[in-house]
Amino acid sequence: MGSESVVLGQKVLAPDTAPAPASTFFIFGASGDLTKRLLLPSLYNLAHEGVLVDDFAIVGVDHVAQSEEDYRAFLTDAVRELPGSLDTEGETWRWLISRIHYVSGDFEDPDTYGRIRERLDQRKPQTGNAVFYLAVAPRFFATISEQLGAAGLLKEAEDAFRHVVVEKPFGADMPSAKALNRRLLAVADERQIYRIDHFLGKETVQNMMALRFGNGIFEPIWSKEYIDHVQITAAETVTVEQRGGFYDATGALRDMVPNHMFQLLAMTAMEPPNSFDADAVRSEKTKVIEAIRHMRPSEAIGAAVRGQYRAGFVNGQAVKDYRDEKDVNPDSRTETYVALKCFVDSWRWNGVPFYVRTGKALAVRRTEIAIQFKRAPGVLFRHLPTALKPNLMVIHVQPDEGVSLRFAAKVPGRKVRLSDVEMSFKYADYFKAAPSTGYETLIYDCLCGDPTLFQRADTIEAGWEAVEPILEAVGGGENEVQFYSAGSSGPAMSDVMLAQDGFQWLPLERDRPR
Ligand code: BG6
Repeated sequence: MGSESVVLGQKVLAPDTAPAPASTFFIFGASGDLTKRLLLPSLYNLAHEGVLVDDFAIVGVDHVAQSEEDYRAFLTDAVRELPGSLDTEGETWRWLISRIHYVSGDFEDPDTYGRIRERLDQRKPQTGNAVFYLAVAPRFFATISEQLGAAGLLKEAEDAFRHVVVEKPFGADMPSAKALNRRLLAVADERQIYRIDHFLGKETVQNMMALRFGNGIFEPIWSKEYIDHVQITAAETVTVEQRGGFYDATGALRDMVPNHMFQLLAMTAMEPPNSFDADAVRSEKTKVIEAIRHMRPSEAIGAAVRGQYRAGFVNGQAVKDYRDEKDVNPDSRTETYVALKCFVDSWRWNGVPFYVRTGKALAVRRTEIAIQFKRAPGVLFRHLPTALKPNLMVIHVQPDEGVSLRFAAKVPGRKVRLSDVEMSFKYADYFKAAPSTGYETLIYDCLCGDPTLFQRADTIEAGWEAVEPILEAVGGGENEVQFYSAGSSGPAMSDVMLAQDGFQWLPLERDRPR
């Protein structure tokens, strides 16, 4: 992560990023959705920022037989259709598109890898550095890596790094994640494997470390002594859209919890690392995920609520029943919402519940981490008509990135009355943000060989281990889905889960004050 050269007050974010080393960026799944929607726009933004050197090249790899010219035209058309589309007439796009090449071939055919090797050998000026980005269906992750290995393409040399980027989902449960790790690690070293969790590319998620460890005032109160509970929310308004086939076999628990949600939890609960060294940071995060208490499948009933959306309205738009979505089983029991009560069994967090919820077709799009502190002793204000509210700190991950803090203040006047007030920091008020898909930082870090924001094998496995009992309970029919209307805050049972502990979720209303 780059060093800061931010001038507060003047609201300038000075460019402080050194160009990434020359390399060839191979994209497997070159015609796929991820390539069009996210990878190309991110590479465009990096080119625009000036951090891609002249000797940078992209090579799309896919089974479609087409010429380089056809592939370039296909990409240009595809990015033109994106909302807020890129300027395909401008200098940046011309620069980028002239560096895009194409290799056609089947991912399972060794000849494809022969052509990749030729392409790498033909590079002028020569660079042996290569990134292999697997933007493909998960069933190809191991196959492609093994083929790369067999072709000798993962062998590194002093002037030739070889990195493999693996998308999510990384496995579908603990055994499959372990098996995938085994196969990858048989052909590449751990430091060559970049397992993506795009939540770690989000600026506000990275800011958690700055907030917690770059300030003196938070860390002393960041523990069970002062914190009552934590709520981590990733609410989405989107439905399963065109992804019914994938989603119905996956569900919200597998799709979001062992990866994105546990990364947010780990950022919140980790101990300060000794340095920003990749392994120092990743070890601290892994320790948190390993410390998430493993419930028994029978306990999953009270500590996990699964929901599925029914017809309703989201932002005024009619949404149909999940079971009527394309490629979804009409009797599906797959969850589109999940709420969990987790405990981190460590000295610092003993007894503090971490409530985690995520779902689709909800009332608002909002990702946030809310830290609720213990109430102040009410002795002095016992006579007041309403009880003091606890202090609440909210880290707004998206949208409206920022941090807010709720506390009590005296209402002006001769009588002592208290009211909640809020201090609020919004990123947009201080910093001019560069356009970002969230993938730019991750691609840049991978090009520079910095794996800090990527998942290690043990982190992934710890995440699956913690959700395994819930998956077991679901498989055993013990944790049935509850229905909720599209456009609501999720199933009522989720509110009950918190109410039983004397808490309440932060409302998911659209116009809730920050
Ligand atoms: C993906 C999930 O990893 O993250 C999607 O597969 C989800 O189901 C998405 O919609 C959420 O990411 P973001 O960045 O839009 O919050």
